Amino acid sequence: MLQEKILVTGAGGQIGTVLCDELRKIYGEENVIGSDIKAQVNSSGPFVILDILNTQRMCEIIDDHGINQIYHLAAILSASGEWMPLKTWNVNLNSLLDIFEIAREKNIKKIFYPSTIAVFGKSTPQKDTPQYTSLEPTTAYGMSKLSGELWSQYYFNRYGMDIRSVRYPGIISYQSLPGGGTTDYAVEIFHEALKNGQYTCFLKEDTYLPMVYMPDAIQGTLQLMEAPSDKLSVRTSYNLSSMSFSPSELANEIKKNIPNFTIKYEPDFRQQIAESWSQSILDDVARKDWNWSPKYDLESMTKDMIFQLKKN
Ligand code: NAD
Ligand code: SER
Repeated sequence: MLQEKILVTGAGGQIGTVLCDELRKIYGEENVIGSDIKAQVNSSGPFVILDILNTQRMCEIIDDHGINQIYHLAAILSASGEWMPLKTWNVNLNSLLDIFEIAREKNIKKIFYPSTIAVFGKSTPQKDTPQYTSLEPTTAYGMSKLSGELWSQYYFNRYGMDIRSVRYPGIISYQSLPGGGTTDYAVEIFHEALKNGQYTCFLKEDTYLPMVYMPDAIQGTLQLMEAPSDKLSVRTSYNLSSMSFSPSELANEIKKNIPNFTIKYEPDFRQQIAESWSQSILDDVARKDWNWSPKYDLESMTKDMIFQLKKN
């Protein structure tokens, strides 16, 4: 059997740090090469510095390590992206096209490309957003990710390349901190609740957004990547849903565990971004095609977050 050799870009980020650990448990420590533009201090295995726009360096790394799968996580997220829209397009989309071309040449057999709820926009039904729907994103991040979805489908149709993708909701994690997104409040709130007993939220109290707990997000990613290719009917990106809540609902759930916790609201520019996205998602196609089935809801996620953060 062919030994899997996996390159993870953006490995120092919120998802990358956790995903690398899990991939290493499955494929072996030495077979998962983490990479990022910035150094990672506590990497659980091999790590290389790679600016994703440096194609020559990327080719060297692929050749040196005999890479045959890529998880392309490196990106600039929604909130940071609004400060540098053209750079966001370059990092998020042009890097993906470079990877597709390099992968085509070097016979990379599988690529994972994370998309996002930011591909939805004002013309998308906000509640129970279906898999196939109107997509008119308004952020540079959303536009770059939607274009990436279409290019993924193009390379699959045109060249038969096995590219797989999910539209992650906001990800909540205890293992790592988020980096420049609009859903970041749902992680920050736990840290502030435990440290200071209070949090100032940058979204309004009734802003509903779809979210998922990291263990479910990772499990789903691995499940999709292991699924038989002929079962996958979506080659743009799968809707993925788990829970949907507002900041005040999350605050109330935290209060059940930390009774003195208080929250106040000072919405900033991220409010407008959040309002352009879906509030809840339908993921029936992912459930049918590759058995997506998250375990955590708001209550169990909140309990576990607090337990894990206290433990650490
Ligand atoms: P993150 O911001 O925590 O990590 C992204 C990483 O990419 C960072 O470590 C950063 O240093 C790196 N990076 C940025 N520019 C780079 C470059 N030029 N070259 C190499 N590395 C570079 O993001 P994340 O939350 O871990 O997200 C990972 C992927 O998942 C992204 O593609 C993101 O769009 C997607 N996603 C994340 C969420 C979420 O809630 N975390 C939701 C939907 C989609
Ligand atoms: N969590 C991400 C963000 O807020 C969604 O892709 O940018």
